[in-house]
Formats: sequence, C-alpha cells, structure tokens
Amino acid sequence: MSDTHPDILTHTEAGVVTLTLNRLDKKNSITASMYTAMADALINAQTDAEVRVVLIQGHETVFSAGNDLGDFLNHPPSGPDSPVFRFMHALSAFPKPLIAAVCGPAVGIGTTLLLHCDLVYAGDNAAFALPFVNLGLCPELASTLLLPQMLGYHRAAEALLLGEPFMAEAALEVGLVNRVLPPTEAANYAQVQARKLAAKPMASLMETKRLMKKGQAALVAQQINDEGACFTRMLHEPAAKEAFSAFMEKRRPDFSKV
Ligand code: COA
Repeated sequence: MSDTHPDILTHTEAGVVTLTLNRLDKKNSITASMYTAMADALINAQTDAEVRVVLIQGHETVFSAGNDLGDFLNHPPSGPDSPVFRFMHALSAFPKPLIAAVCGPAVGIGTTLLLHCDLVYAGDNAAFALPFVNLGLCPELASTLLLPQMLGYHRAAEALLLGEPFMAEAALEVGLVNRVLPPTEAANYAQVQARKLAAKPMASLMETKRLMKKGQAALVAQQINDEGACFTRMLHEPAAKEAFSAFMEKRRPDFSKV
C-alpha cells in the first residue's frame, strides 16, 4: 500500500500497515479527506491477504487534536456515508489486529478511536481529552457505550461530562493503554508488538478478535449511528456554533445563553 493522502502516510512492511497522521502544523487534526484516506486504507487492509496488522500512530509530540474544527464547520457530516462515519464503521468493525501508538495530546476522536484498537502503547507525554460537551456536541465512536464499560460509569462521566484531560498513567490504570513508554520509544515498541502479531496464524488472530467482540458488535454499530445522528444535529445548534467560533477566534466560549 502506498500514500494516497499527504497527511496520512502509509507504510507496509512485514505484514504491518502503518498509518501515520502527518499534519503537524495543525496538530494532526483530521479533515474529511483524511477520514476518507483512513477509511479506504482500512477497507483495503481488510481484504488484502498480505496485510495482517494495522498500526495507527501520530508524532512523538502529538497524536491528534481530533476533528479539524474549521473543516467540520465548513463541511459538516451529512449522513451515514460521510467520511467520518465511513471511518468509524471501518475502524470499529476491522477484523484484523489494530494497534495504536499515542504520544502527546489525543483529543476527541484521537482518544475514542483507541477504544477500537486491540493494543495501545502510550508515550508518557500522552494527554487524553474528550471535550465534546465543551464544544456543544455529544461523544462519538461508541464512546458513550465503551468508556463506561472500561472506566466504570463515574470515571467515564468525569471524562465525558467535564471533558477534563487525563494523562498516560491514569489511562494505564483504567486499561485504556497497555503500556507507557518514553515518547521516543512508543512507536518502535508498537511496531515490535505489531510484527509479533503479524507472525502468528492469521485465522486464530481474527477468530479470537471476533469472539471477543461479537457480544456487542451490533450494539457498537448502533451506538455509532445513534451518537452520529445526535452529533450531526448538534453541530448546527447554537452551543456548537459558539464553541467553534470561539476556537477560531482564540477566545473562551460563552455558553450563558445556550
Ligand atoms: N482543528 C483545527 N485546527 C486545529 C485543531 C483542530 N481540532 N487543533 C489545533 N489546531 C490548529 C490551531 O488552530 C493552530 O493553528 P494556527 O497555527 O494556524 O493558529 C495549530 O493547530 C496549533 O494549535 P495550538 O492550539 O496552538 O497548539 P497547542 O500545542 O497549544 O495545543 C492542542 C494543542 C491539541 C491541545 C490544542 O490545539 C487543542 O486543544 N485543539 C483543539 C482540540 C479539539 O477541541 N478538538 C476537537 C475534538 S471533537
């Protein structure tokens, strides 16, 4: 597989496809065309017999600032076939092992996508944040289902309602990440683990993943759709408009009237 988008680098070696978010000047925030490139890469990886594992990574200093807010404002997702939802369904239903290496800020989908990865390795500078409420939105990618299961309801409510960031050690404690490493080592370690997986029998990996996930696969897909409908509606409402304008104007949002 080769690069199809300048901001999503694709490298294939030893059965591992590595997708690297490469939009550092905008903190690896994700545009609609980047979602399309990632969805296409996952769909190709699913059917390509040479691909055994997919690794998603950012940079040592930043994983992703989440959705590109300007792009979202100008090209809001319009329905289930929108790039962001294509990516979410491709990721959540991906049948082969998925690994992430996360350093620095992981905001919004930068954190929720990890809930769909099988192994997550974090730099000790990783900072996770789910600021959907602070943006006048609701969470996505089935995080309203999976996060309470992983963290327990009260810690999930703290993360999703208050939207306060939490660091790598806290993520390790609740099981969101497998291991915390120096940021310079996280991607290499994730690559080593990916290659270990790639050397194992593929059918066993895929059946084991399917069996672990099958209990709630339909529920996850439904939750992505329910959250997506809510998110798409809320994007056009006053709270989100105020939050997005405030971000663009580099000021604090004023929610006193919404
Ligand atoms: N969408 C669009 N542009 C973004 C962005 C986003 N989500 N996040 C950062 N950027 C842009 C900034 O506007 C800035 O652009 P500029 O240089 O043209 O002014 C550039 O990336 C650098 O961002 P900055 O905020 O200066 O970097 P930082 O290191 O101080 O902070 C973050 C990094 C990730 C903590 C911070 O950028 C942030 O909180 N971003 C918004 C995250 C967010 O709310 N995402 C949406 C989730 S649904």
